[in-house]
Amino acid sequence: MDAFAEGEAVTNLHWRDAPVPSPPLGLGALDAPGVLATHVVLPVDQVVGAPAHLDHVESATLPCAGVTAWNALFGDHEVLPGQKVASLGTGGVAVYAMQLAKAAGAEYYGIVRRPEAAARLLGAGANGVVDDFSEWSAKLRELTGGVDKLVDTVGTTTINESLAALAPHGEVALVGLFTQEPEPLDVMRLFGSGGSLRGVAVGSARQHRDLVAFVERHGIRPVVDGVHRFDDAPEAFAHHRRSGVVGKVVITVP
Ligand SMILES: NC(=O)c1ccc[n+]([C@@H]2O[C@H](COP(=O)([O-])OP(=O)(O)OC[C@H]3O[C@@H](n4cnc5c(N)ncnc54)[C@H](OP(=O)(O)O)[C@@H]3O)[C@@H](O)[C@H]2O)c1
Repeated sequence: MDAFAEGEAVTNLHWRDAPVPSPPLGLGALDAPGVLATHVVLPVDQVVGAPAHLDHVESATLPCAGVTAWNALFGDHEVLPGQKVASLGTGGVAVYAMQLAKAAGAEYYGIVRRPEAAARLLGAGANGVVDDFSEWSAKLRELTGGVDKLVDTVGTTTINESLAALAPHGEVALVGLFTQEPEPLDVMRLFGSGGSLRGVAVGSARQHRDLVAFVERHGIRPVVDGVHRFDDAPEAFAHHRRSGVVGKVVITVP
């Protein structure tokens, strides 16, 4: 358990260490009130110190999007320097996946639905972008020859395309919950690559701590698309729902 001084900045954990997933901790539970509150009370073993170089807005992006991207990249089939990583969209998880992959010495490729998002990703360091969603796995393969890690941030409707984009022994880390209707899984694609499919549920306390250390070591600054005041929370949700957001939308407390 960590010890904290009064006033020290902390971020909240989603799970304790293995087994993950186990029942999530307070704020991680789906029926919990969440963090849109001026004050929350948490046991000391449910928080981790925030990276020293980040402000509160930046640190607030770590517990869900950051830890999920960390788990997707390093929780299994750890991404190695020189490998190729790809993800869908420009949301919080995908942009964290890009920043972490690049810092680990890997290449990052994005798949987005609109050209203006492609320009922003390329400007933020992506090695290449597929800028439409039709038959994107074939286009991604043309660009990369196959990727070692595909972080699928959409869900069941994209799994087969994600599997088709893998390099030999690559992994699809399934994160997305946007589409959940059961879809036939084209398992034969796994024989073609010797690849794997893994479900990701945020991450453990150890993964959260490893992320904080990595973010500090590499001086990573999370990408924040907009900051809204607490009493403008409805506008923050509207902002987040708009297409074209890159990174996280954050609400500050008074
Ligand atoms: N498994 C876990 O532990 C875990 C943890 C965190 C998040 N999630 C889930 O992972 C997903 C991504 O989270 P996030 O926080 O990064 O989301 P986000 O910030 O809301 O970003 C969503 C991104 O995905 C794109 N997108 C949305 N629906 C799409 C669809 N049907 N097809 C293609 N692209 C689509 C959006 O593109 P446009 O801008 O073009 O609309 C946007 O770039 C969400 O479903 C979220 O619930 C799961």
